[in-house]
Amino acid sequence: MSSAGPVISAGIVEAAPAKINLALHVTGRRDDGYHLLDSIVTFAETGDRLTFAAADEDGLTLSGRFGAALAADPKGTGDNLVVKARDLMRGALRDRGLETRPVEIALEKNLPIASGIGGGSADAAATLRGLLRLWDVELPADELAAIALRLGADVPMCLKSRPLRAGGVGEAITPLSHMPSFAMVLANPLKAVSTPEVFRRLDRRDNPPISSPPQVVDRKAWIAWLSALRNDLEAPARALIPEIGTLCDLLAESGADLVRMSGSGATCFGLYGDYAAAEAAARHLSQQEPHWYFDATRTVAGDSP
Ligand code: C5P
Repeated sequence: MSSAGPVISAGIVEAAPAKINLALHVTGRRDDGYHLLDSIVTFAETGDRLTFAAADEDGLTLSGRFGAALAADPKGTGDNLVVKARDLMRGALRDRGLETRPVEIALEKNLPIASGIGGGSADAAATLRGLLRLWDVELPADELAAIALRLGADVPMCLKSRPLRAGGVGEAITPLSHMPSFAMVLANPLKAVSTPEVFRRLDRRDNPPISSPPQVVDRKAWIAWLSALRNDLEAPARALIPEIGTLCDLLAESGADLVRMSGSGATCFGLYGDYAAAEAAARHLSQQEPHWYFDATRTVAGDSP
């Protein structure tokens, strides 16, 4: 067996941007119980942050506003998607005859846990990207995507971290190159939501797919188009966590052009005319509900010139 990559003493940094489902239609269900989705997804400048450094033995340290919440979670470290991603990646490289060195991973957990904005999935995707860089190896794109999907339905899209449309259970990805950047407030009542429970409570699983997105980089056209779409998981999530309704009302009152829940919740977002408006809204909302999570951010734009 050969040994993969040089020893790199300085840490490698990978951002794990928050994933936002601007719309999510549930269009069917597979025989294995997973749901077929049609989702419009973008990524925020805010998110978790991971560093990777060669070490004598494998390790994971947690910091950040929600680091302690993850450590305290009984399903935390043992079940941690970062550790799972590391082990799957190492196994895939071993299958190719590459032995990898131990790695110390530091996870700065800035996003609320189990909150519908990717958190764990974004961390897993960042781990795959970071380890490839640390170990200085490459994997074919289809093999990397397959590893990502084994970690969770949202991990392949988090590998991209660009505006996209996701079909299948989340793995059928089409880039949305014309999507503009949006000024946004992310808001969460700091109540974790069980994704399987939200899916279980759906009334309908055969909703029509999403129409064609605008082919121009025009914020107004995108907001008008998005406004006609939905998140089908919002009604069952609101039934589980009534604070989601309160949060959406507060975001709407704060001047957002569009308010919706992301993923299976409970994070909701508001889109604002510009970043200053989003910042002012986040400040005001934090005063109204000091114990909830509010973060003003921008989303990344598509790759259109
Ligand atoms: O793939 P991930 O671990 O993120 O999914 C968590 C749970 O959400 C799954 O076990 C499943 O119950 C539900 N899910 C689903 N259909 C999807 C994605 C997730 O039913 N497309």
